[in-house]
Amino acid sequence: MKNTENQAIPEQFQERIGNVQRTSFPKRQGATSEVVFLHTDQGNFVCKCSSLPKYRSWLLKEAKVMEELNVNTALSIPTYLHYVEDENKSYLLMSLEQGIPLREAMIAAKTDEEKTNLIHSFGTKLRTLHETDPPPKWQQQESWLDLQLKKAAYNLKNYEVDGNQHLLDSLKENKPDNITQTLIHGDFTIDNVLVTENRVQTFIDLSESAFGDPRYDVALAIRSFLYDKDLLNAFYEGYKLQRISKEEFDYFDGGLYEFF
Ligand SMILES: Nc1ncnc2c1ncn2[C@@H]1O[C@H](COP(=O)(O)OP(=O)(O)OP(=O)(O)O)[C@@H](O)[C@H]1O
Ligand SMILES: [Mg+2]
Repeated sequence: MKNTENQAIPEQFQERIGNVQRTSFPKRQGATSEVVFLHTDQGNFVCKCSSLPKYRSWLLKEAKVMEELNVNTALSIPTYLHYVEDENKSYLLMSLEQGIPLREAMIAAKTDEEKTNLIHSFGTKLRTLHETDPPPKWQQQESWLDLQLKKAAYNLKNYEVDGNQHLLDSLKENKPDNITQTLIHGDFTIDNVLVTENRVQTFIDLSESAFGDPRYDVALAIRSFLYDKDLLNAFYEGYKLQRISKEEFDYFDGGLYEFF
């Protein structure tokens, strides 16, 4: 291990990326991991590291998902490079992509027009994703929603989650009508896409990507501007596919998301 300011980098990564000359950090760390940007003589990389068991399992999943999406799609996502574990932590190595998270870009935007354009591109980007064929082995018989409800029950039993048994029972009883499943991001918030040249260009934080219910992505996408008519319209103008109802929004954002 080589220690950077406050993060150890696995030796196996060093072999791959050369000497770390400098490290830097994102403005905002996520809730589930620590991210370090590694600047080496061979380029710029990201080491994402988790220590809690739940988050370590998500990181392993992200590694696999990213590798399969790299091979099977032309989506703009980081390139998977390596994954290692030791007794205490799991580490994912990937390419450093250009851009800043959409949340930061929205704060930095000076005019309403700039904000509207950003959110329009957020919608367009989601359409691209929902229209992309998933890796062949991702298509499965059991519905994504049924699987998520099982995972929600597991998370409720084994981890700390915001949801409770009463909410889970109601989600099981009040499932929305089936719709065609698509490739989904699975955590499509304004923190998990990167903006360059005033447009959303790149998807990150991919551990929950799956062949699933596109309404879940839409619900998480619009949660931060649900009551801003202009932004909501801009999003749907970019997205162009099916809008979700208030009930569907509540089911996915206020409901299912509480268990993850
Ligand atoms: N490949 C990458 N290229 C550029 N920046 C990245 C990359 N991966 C992560 N980042 C930066 O690090 C931040 C945290 O990364 P990420 O969202 O993957 O972590 P997380 O802990 O899983 O977040 P969450 O709390 O949403 O689960 C991102 O918001 C982004 O600023
Ligand atoms: Mg994130």
